[in-house]
Amino acid sequence: MRVLLVGSGGREHALAWKIGQSPLLEELFIAPGNAGTASVGTNLSIQDSDINGLSEYATSKNIDLTIVGPEGPLAAGLVDKFSAVGLKAFGPNRRAAQLEWSKTFAKTFMKDNDIPTSDSLTVNTRDEAVRAADAFGLPVVLKADGLAAGKGVYICESVKEVRTAIDDIVVKRIFGKSGDSLVIEEYLTGSELSVFAFSDGKTISPLVAACDYKRIGNYDQGPNTGGMGAYSPAPFWNPSLEDQIGKEVVEKTLLGMQRIHNEYSGVLFVGLMVTESGPKVLEFNCRLGDPETQTIMPLLEADILEMSMACIDGDLESVEVKWSEESCVTVVLASEGYPATYDTGFPITGLENVSDKSTVFHAGTILSTNGTFNTSGGRVLSVSSKGRNLNEAKMNTYGNINKIGFKNSYFRDDIALGI
Ligand code: AMP
Ligand code: GLY
Repeated sequence: MRVLLVGSGGREHALAWKIGQSPLLEELFIAPGNAGTASVGTNLSIQDSDINGLSEYATSKNIDLTIVGPEGPLAAGLVDKFSAVGLKAFGPNRRAAQLEWSKTFAKTFMKDNDIPTSDSLTVNTRDEAVRAADAFGLPVVLKADGLAAGKGVYICESVKEVRTAIDDIVVKRIFGKSGDSLVIEEYLTGSELSVFAFSDGKTISPLVAACDYKRIGNYDQGPNTGGMGAYSPAPFWNPSLEDQIGKEVVEKTLLGMQRIHNEYSGVLFVGLMVTESGPKVLEFNCRLGDPETQTIMPLLEADILEMSMACIDGDLESVEVKWSEESCVTVVLASEGYPATYDTGFPITGLENVSDKSTVFHAGTILSTNGTFNTSGGRVLSVSSKGRNLNEAKMNTYGNINKIGFKNSYFRDDIALGI
C-alpha cells in the first residue's frame, strides 16, 4: 500500500512508526511531517491545511490510503474532497466531524440521543451568557462553540473569571467565528479519561483508554498545554466500565449519527469524566489524541493499515483489533517557557543512549546540517515505554528521558506517579 499521512506532531510520528511496521506498507509519505517521521518515510512540503495540494499529490502518486492526524483537515473537508476524486482517506467527513468542530452540535446531539453529559445551555449574546452562567452558579464551564486549538474552554471559579471568559469569546472574539455561540455547562468532578474507538460506521473496535496531563506543571499546576504526558490503562479501567462506555456513549453515538444520515467512520475520541454517577462526555474529537497516540500505538496489536482500510470499506468486522494487556507511559520533553514563549535551535543530545525499552517520538525537532537533531518547537519530543504494569513502564520512560538533554529542557516528573 502507498500511504499518505497528514500532520506534523508527536501523534503523527507515533502513527508513522506504527504504519512502518505493517507488512502491507509499500511506501509512506508524510505531509508535512517532522524530523522523526523522516526516518520512516518521505516528508513532503505540503501543509496539512492544503487540501487541494494533498489531493493532487495523492492522485498523482497513486496513494492507496490517506490517514489524517489532526482535526483541522477533517473539519475542512479533506475526506469529502478525497472521496469526490476517488481517493480513500481515513476519518470522518466534514459533516460527521462536526461532533468535534461544533460543541453546540455535539451537545444537542447528546441530548437527542440520551448520551450522558453535563447539563448545558447554548447562548449567542453577552447578556444571555451572563444570565446562563449565573443560573449554573460556580464553578461553571464556558466553551467557545468551534475549534480553538484546545484554548476555547474556561473553567471559571469566580464571577470575575466568568466575565473574562465572556469578554474573550463574545466581546473581543479572540476565537473569531468559533465564538459565534457559546456553551455554558455544569462543572463535573471525577476522573478524566480519553477513550478511543475505531469504527466503520457500524462495527466498533474494542475500546482503549488513556489518561493525559494537560497542565504544564507537576501536580496539575499552571497553564494548559497540548499535553505533557499520558498513560494507559487507567487504574480504574475494567471490562464493566468499557462495556458501559461502549453501550451508553460509543454505540449511541454511531446509531445517532446513522439516524441523521451522517454516518461516522474513523476514530472517535471521547473525552470523559468518570463521575460518581457514571461516565459523562466532556467532548468528542474526530481524531486520535496527542500525546495519547504515543501511548496507545505501542499497545496496538493489530495492523493499523488493515484497520484503517477496513474502517473506510465498511469491513471492520473482519479485522481483529487487539490492545495489549501491558501498560505504557509517555512523558513529553518540552522547551522551558512552553506554552508561552521559548527559545529553539538547541542541539539535542543523548538520543543514542535511549535503550530499546523506550521509543522516542519527535514533535518539534529539525535535522541540522551536521546531522544532529535541534529543537524547533514547544513540545520537542516524547518518550514512551511499555511495561508489565504502569510502574515498570514509568521507570523505563523516566530512566530513558533522563538520558536526553538540550538547553532549557523541561518535563513533568509526576506522570503516572502515585496511581
Ligand atoms: P474539552 O476541550 O471540552 O475537553 O475541555 C478541556 C478540558 O477542560 C477537559 O479536558 C477538562 O479537564 C476540562 N473540562 C471541560 N468540560 C468540563 C466540565 N464540564 N467539567 C469539568 N471540567 C471540564
Ligand atoms: N490530548 C488531548 C487532545 O489531543 O485533544
